[in-house]
Amino acid sequence: MTDYRYMVEQDIPALAELERKYFSIPWSEKSLRNELQNNDSVFIVAETDGVVAGYAGVYLMGFEAGITNVVVDEKFRKNGIGNGIVNRLIEECEKHGVSDITLEVRESNIPALELYKKNGFVSEGKRPGFYDKPKEDAVIMWRRQQK
Ligand SMILES: CC(C)(COP(=O)(O)OP(=O)(O)OC[C@H]1O[C@@H](n2cnc3c(N)ncnc32)[C@H](O)[C@@H]1OP(=O)(O)O)[C@@H](O)C(=O)NCCC(=O)NCCS
Repeated sequence: MTDYRYMVEQDIPALAELERKYFSIPWSEKSLRNELQNNDSVFIVAETDGVVAGYAGVYLMGFEAGITNVVVDEKFRKNGIGNGIVNRLIEECEKHGVSDITLEVRESNIPALELYKKNGFVSEGKRPGFYDKPKEDAVIMWRRQQK
């Protein structure tokens, strides 16, 4: 059973651990902790049977918002949790009056590209060399509200 809830201080070590495990340029505990004080961001944690299974955040910028990396710990993948986190972030955006949501993703990251496509994100271009370690282009995706 997986719950989706707001990030709290006690989550920080587990989230920093996920960052180190899965990203070549991980967020530090300090950066994550700063988000707890940020009124313009919302971070959602997925907890499965009391264990942190994944997380992601979104920055609210008026009618637009930007999703950060979404991550699910390997042993919990392919169970709909990534999808659950993205759905919660979209709900949070709608609650805050956001119409258009954007994100960047490595062009080789098929699981993430598929997850975002499934949730209504469409590729609108590339940012050449956006990522380091290894250097790679980013695909820029948007989920725009129908007008
Ligand atoms: C991307 C990621 C978050 C997906 O998490 P997940 O919990 O496994 O995803 P879900 O089980 O909710 O899958 C949702 C959809 O994503 C896509 N997907 C997930 N894993 C996939 C894979 N290995 N290959 C292709 N598509 C995949 C599918 O469309 C899937 O829908 P389906 O189950 O109906 O086929 C996870 O693989 C991850 O943490 N990767 C490492 C970190 C990362 O790269 N994050 C993205 C940075 S932008």
